[in-house]
Amino acid sequence: MKELNSVELRNLWLKFFKKHKHKIISSASLIPENDPTVLYTTAGMHPLVPYLLGEKHPQGTRLTNSQRCIRTGDIDDVGDNSHCTYFEMLGNWSLGDYFKDDMIKWSYEFLTSRKFLCIPVEKLAVTVFAGDETAPRDIESYNLWNKCGIPADKIFYLPKENNWWGLGSGIGPCGPDTEMFIDTGKEKCCENCSPACSCGKYIEIWNDVFMQYRINIAGGPIEKLLKPNVDTGMGLERTLCILNGYKSVYDCDLFVGAIKVIEKLSGKSYEQDTETIKAFRIIADHLRATTFIMGDEKGISPSNVGQGYVLRRLIRRAINYAKRLGIEPLELTKVCDEYIEKYKNVYPIILKNSQKIKDELLKEINKFNKTINDGLKEFDRAVSHLTGTVIDGKTAFRLYDTYGFPVEMTIELATERGLSVNKQEYVESFNLHQDLSRTANAGQFKGGLADVDNYDNVRLHTASHLLLAALRKIYGNDVHQCGQNITSERLRFDFNIDHKLSPEEIIVIENIVNENIKSDISVIKEEMGVQEAKKSGATGIFDEKYGNIVSVYTIGNISKEICGGPHVAHTGELNEFKIIKEESSSSGIRRIKATIK
Ligand code: SER
Repeated sequence: MKELNSVELRNLWLKFFKKHKHKIISSASLIPENDPTVLYTTAGMHPLVPYLLGEKHPQGTRLTNSQRCIRTGDIDDVGDNSHCTYFEMLGNWSLGDYFKDDMIKWSYEFLTSRKFLCIPVEKLAVTVFAGDETAPRDIESYNLWNKCGIPADKIFYLPKENNWWGLGSGIGPCGPDTEMFIDTGKEKCCENCSPACSCGKYIEIWNDVFMQYRINIAGGPIEKLLKPNVDTGMGLERTLCILNGYKSVYDCDLFVGAIKVIEKLSGKSYEQDTETIKAFRIIADHLRATTFIMGDEKGISPSNVGQGYVLRRLIRRAINYAKRLGIEPLELTKVCDEYIEKYKNVYPIILKNSQKIKDELLKEINKFNKTINDGLKEFDRAVSHLTGTVIDGKTAFRLYDTYGFPVEMTIELATERGLSVNKQEYVESFNLHQDLSRTANAGQFKGGLADVDNYDNVRLHTASHLLLAALRKIYGNDVHQCGQNITSERLRFDFNIDHKLSPEEIIVIENIVNENIKSDISVIKEEMGVQEAKKSGATGIFDEKYGNIVSVYTIGNISKEICGGPHVAHTGELNEFKIIKEESSSSGIRRIKATIK
């Protein structure tokens, strides 16, 4: 295997696909343009969805890049050896051009050739789709791998759960994939040990998705794409870790400088003990993500909704862990400086926005300091009302969710006063919140915000539910939300429809929404199981990305949507709804911008 650093691997990837006639495109913003399913760009293919669905890409039919991505679904795993919230995905795409034959040959070449990654064949294992009632077994990919030189006992047929790829929403292009793994040489964990198990014998390195199908409506039928596409993704950090034989992704060159800065600021050595390692990694990871989010072309600032809330959580977690290491939070901008220096040649945008990144970070740190003080007051209040010596789990969770107190900190404070915390109850509240957050990630806002201070955003959020209801009333229930973005001034709402709306249609939509505002209908929130929500007729995207428990917001008999909230209590709070713009978003998708008074 070749020992490469991040710049070398990125360049090698781009060079390889350039050799195979691909155009190198630049990384898109971390903030998705037209994707309703997520708050951040989570894969290289996200910004390319319109093209994967048939729109013509100006750069042609063979593309490659290294895409900045954010995934926060596993935020609580950051600190282990492999999870990062920000990462880069090396990708290549065929837009109706080549298909399985070329792609599998090239994957084999890139992985094994001396000129490229030079991975010995005996260290590779691959998986292909086993087939089910919706799509056939991928025998073609099996045969292609076998012809390249992967022996039959290293090719595994796995079900949809493992070898199928589509967007989290369940809508859009999708298809079987073939995944490539490094066999670490560990003993098999059992008779049926395969890349599907998590025993650590196999580590995934690359994923080739063969997009042969599309799904138009959540839960709807699967249709064949006229021209199938290829979408592949290789995690930069993870591959660096494998190639260099590192124990963890945090050992790769991208983190080395930041870890040194954290050592200097804390006066502690990184590998001192497992707790310290974890704290270092969380700070290093979260501040890297923070640097890229605030430094993005569409730079986001910390807030209580949507992307801004995710950013706020990342910063506050980093601050909490920094405090544990004895670091003065205001010094954390030095970690950002290190990342700006490290990445400035590859992503000049973060150099351009470096001042903004640091100013925003300092602002948030100061704000958080105040919140911590409020949290301490809240803690004291809870203690003064306590009967007995146990602080209940809900209070501990509120301190975590609203004031950013990790439960360990609450336990510490309690212990100092001879008290304890009901951790079991805390875990239950936490899990419920996780489920709600997952729901939110799957299409709407971040749920369960306890300290919402931006009332206008909340009002606009409820307005968007009334807007969808009006659209469905006029155009039928095939209309669904294809994207949403809310600032404190306006809402932006994308939906599927086959024509430009006339001025008369816009008036009709406004009238329906305003009627429902005038009627001052109560907005009711209920929590229920996904199946129950489905049965109740709630709209939303049903797939495995949801947690077990979801919240459903009902507005009279007008609207019922699965949503993370938050919402107003009565529609009358919206006063008056006005559409300020109607335009095209992409093919078959129109965009409405609207305000309320
Ligand atoms: N979209 C696929 C993934 O995220 C391949 O790029 O793995």
